[in-house]
Amino acid sequence: MSKIVLKATNVSKQYRLGQLGMGTISDDLNRWWHKARGKEDPYLKVGDVNDKSVKGKSDYVWSLKDINFEVKQGDVLGIIGKNGAGKSTLLKILSQVTKATTGQVKIRGRIAALLEVGTGFHPDLSGRENVFLNGAILGMTKPEILSKFDEIVDFSGIEKYIDTPVKRYSSGMMVRLGFAVAAHLDPEILIVDEVLAVGDAEFQKKCLNKMKDVAGQGRTILFVSHNIQAISNLCTTGLLLNNGQIETQGNIEDCIKKYVTNSRTETLKTIGIEDRLKRGTGNIVFEELKPVKNGEESWEFNYDDEITFQFKLIAGENTKGLGFYLAVRNPFSEEIISNFKTIITENTLNKGERISFTVALPKKTLRTGQYGLYFALANNDFKIFYDVLDTNINMPLLNINPVSMDVHENAGFATLPFNLKIN
Ligand SMILES: Nc1ncnc2c1ncn2[C@@H]1O[C@H](COP(=O)(O)OP(=O)(O)O)[C@@H](O)[C@H]1O
Ligand SMILES: [Mg+2]
Repeated sequence: MSKIVLKATNVSKQYRLGQLGMGTISDDLNRWWHKARGKEDPYLKVGDVNDKSVKGKSDYVWSLKDINFEVKQGDVLGIIGKNGAGKSTLLKILSQVTKATTGQVKIRGRIAALLEVGTGFHPDLSGRENVFLNGAILGMTKPEILSKFDEIVDFSGIEKYIDTPVKRYSSGMMVRLGFAVAAHLDPEILIVDEVLAVGDAEFQKKCLNKMKDVAGQGRTILFVSHNIQAISNLCTTGLLLNNGQIETQGNIEDCIKKYVTNSRTETLKTIGIEDRLKRGTGNIVFEELKPVKNGEESWEFNYDDEITFQFKLIAGENTKGLGFYLAVRNPFSEEIISNFKTIITENTLNKGERISFTVALPKKTLRTGQYGLYFALANNDFKIFYDVLDTNINMPLLNINPVSMDVHENAGFATLPFNLKIN
């Protein structure tokens, strides 16, 4: 039995929504007055669960509510959940950047954390000085840090700027150094928030490999990411947060499945999902996406199935021209099919008008494994994006079932491009 290195018991975190005025000041006084008399904080009881789709009745919100879990030595725990679910808050509490309002956290071992960009760095100090500062905070001696220094700088790839104050770093550079420091200073528990998303794809891959190494050495890792493929690859256990509460915990694939089902129903049913609006104008949006196998919706296919996607779109505005873009990624987030672009119409779609079409990927194109998908709607020259569906954010993975070797041996060459049929 491996020992428990981290245990959270009834951890809750309450934030006050940013409002100033007599109300909140008197709340503060009242809170202070209760505290001064050794009484329980009266506002701890009135907080609402943090569901942004429901307008809360109070100014206090539970970003985390009654979180209970434990992590064993050597576990690689993937923490997932949609934006605002409380993931970063939880990591901040565990790495003692902020305090839980109630509950306890017990930790055995040195923690290194890569939280929001720049956290843990002193802006006026150089990269070099920050490496030593971080090492010292982790309890390392100067010679110990020195022995890792070159490796850290080398990994970060920012050698040229190592003596520049970090306040002059771009966020990408900050993350590069931050990760290099956290991963190389021999932490017993490594905590990584989704800041990695800031880095370029190559660096992200390097970090994921490094985390694999660290995990391989029996270290414990807590990892937050929207990159479900990375989570699935790396993590051994999972925690799914929803509105500040644990929805599923334990098996990572169970957590992913639940997460993906949740986000899929949510994404496809509404137009106004934040992350989609950030990536597209919303002029024309996906209303429905269905991969189909033998006429039935399925996210699982066999190697010799044709993979057909059925799309339904709706125009949110009168919009001239519609282009469709598709990419498929392998489990390392590399695009193995990209630049499949096609023009669906050059005409104007009127507000509220619907259009449906299917795209079929010929059989024997994708081998056994899990694939990420990327679908985008754009104008005719693909300069303006209307809507994006992306496995890394809001779609399930596509599963190709294992096949026997002889099926692979007999593999034919698939013919691209895809077959597009507009209904
Ligand atoms: N400093 C803060 N002040 C007030 N509310 C906060 C603060 N930080 C986070 N929150 C609240 O906590 C919720 C959870 O945030 P966060 O932990 O950052 O979520 P995630 O990392 O899962 O996207 C947010 O929806 C927000 O309402
Ligand atoms: Mg976060």
